[in-house]
Amino acid sequence: MPLPEEFPAFLATKSDDAVDRGPATLAAADLPEGEVTIRVDWSSINYKDALATIPKGQVAQISPLVPGIDLAGEVVESSDASVAPGSEVLATGYDIGVARHGGWARYARVPAAWVVPLPDGLTAREAMTLGTAGLTAGLSIHALESHGVTPDAGPVLVLGASGGVGSTAVGALSTAGYEVHAATGKADEHDYLKGLGAAEVLDRDEVTAESKRPLESQRWAATVDPIGGAGTAYALRTTRYGGAVAVSGLTAGPKLDTTVLPFILRGVSLLGVDSVQASTDARNTVWSRLATDLRPRGLDDAIAREVDLDGIEPVLDALLAGEAVGRTVVRVSA
Ligand SMILES: NC(=O)c1ccc[n+]([C@@H]2O[C@H](COP(=O)([O-])OP(=O)(O)OC[C@H]3O[C@@H](n4cnc5c(N)ncnc54)[C@H](OP(=O)(O)O)[C@@H]3O)[C@@H](O)[C@H]2O)c1
Repeated sequence: MPLPEEFPAFLATKSDDAVDRGPATLAAADLPEGEVTIRVDWSSINYKDALATIPKGQVAQISPLVPGIDLAGEVVESSDASVAPGSEVLATGYDIGVARHGGWARYARVPAAWVVPLPDGLTAREAMTLGTAGLTAGLSIHALESHGVTPDAGPVLVLGASGGVGSTAVGALSTAGYEVHAATGKADEHDYLKGLGAAEVLDRDEVTAESKRPLESQRWAATVDPIGGAGTAYALRTTRYGGAVAVSGLTAGPKLDTTVLPFILRGVSLLGVDSVQASTDARNTVWSRLATDLRPRGLDDAIAREVDLDGIEPVLDALLAGEAVGRTVVRVSA
C-alpha cells in the first residue's frame, strides 16, 4: 500500500534562540533516504529526546526534526533482501531522531543495516518500554558479566535507579538473580524500586557525596552508572576488589573527580557503555537477552507510562528536570 502523502508527527523546529515543538504533519516526501520504511507503532521518550527539543540541548542536528531515537513497528517497504515487508522490527540510535527524522511520526525510513528484528518474546510496545534506555542497561550488564561479574559475586549498585536506564537495569538484574541495591533521589519511589526487585534502596545524597578519601569500604561487586559525575567517583571508591563500574550517562555531570587508587590498588575497572553506535552483533545479543534472561521485572506494567503524540510535551520537561520515573512509551500508530 503506498504511503499517505501526509501523516501525523511531532516536530521540533529551531528559530533563533528558541525551539518550537509540538504535534504537526509530516509529508512523505520529507522522509530521509534509506532502504526500509517502517510504520511506527510505538516509540519512546528518552532524556536525549528531551535534549533534542531545547535550544542548548546540543543533540538536534537538523531543523525541523522529528525526534524519537527509538522506534518499533512493521516494515511497509524494503529494497533490501534482508528485511522483509510485513516483518516486525525495531531501530534505535545511530542518527535516528538526531540527524534524520526519528520515531515520533507515523512513518520512518532507515538504512537496512540499522534494523533489528523484533526479538521473539517481546511485543513492539515492550521493546519500546525498553528502548535505548533498556538497550543501554542490557549492554551495561552484558559488559559487567563479560568482565566476570556473576550473581554470587555480591550486590550490584544501580545509580539513577528510578530513571529509564536505572529502572530497566534494576528489573533486568533482578530477573538475572542479582542482589540489587538501587540509589535514587526520589523518596517517593522506594516501593516502585522494591517492586522491580531492589533488595535495598539508598539515597542519592549518599552516592553523590563528595569525599576526600580515595577509597572507602568495599561494598559492590559492580555498578550500573547512568549518572556519571560524583556518582561515578563514589562507585569507584566503594567497588570491591576486581569489580567494575559500567558508566553510560551524565545526569550528575560530565566531570569525573577521582584518583587512580581504585584502579591500581583494587583492580577496579571502569567500562564505557555506548548504545548509539553499538555493533549489530552486540545489539542482537542484548535484545535477545532482554527478551529472555534479562527481561526486566516490571516490564509488563510497572515501568511503562503511555502517551500519544499529543501527550509528549509535558514528559520532556519532567525528563529535563530529572523528575521522570521509569519509561514513557509513545503510541504512534498502534
Ligand atoms: N551511553 C549511552 O548510549 C546512553 C544511552 C541512554 C542514556 N544515556 C544517558 O544516560 C543518562 C540517563 O538516561 P535516562 O534515559 O535513564 O534518563 P532519565 O530517565 O532522565 O533518568 C536519569 C535519572 O538520573 C537521576 N538524576 C537526575 N538528576 C540527577 C542529578 N542531578 N544527579 C544525580 N542523579 C540525577 C534521576 O534518578 P533518581 O531520581 O532515581 O536518582 C533520573 O531519573 C542520560 O545522561 C542519558 O543521556 C546514555
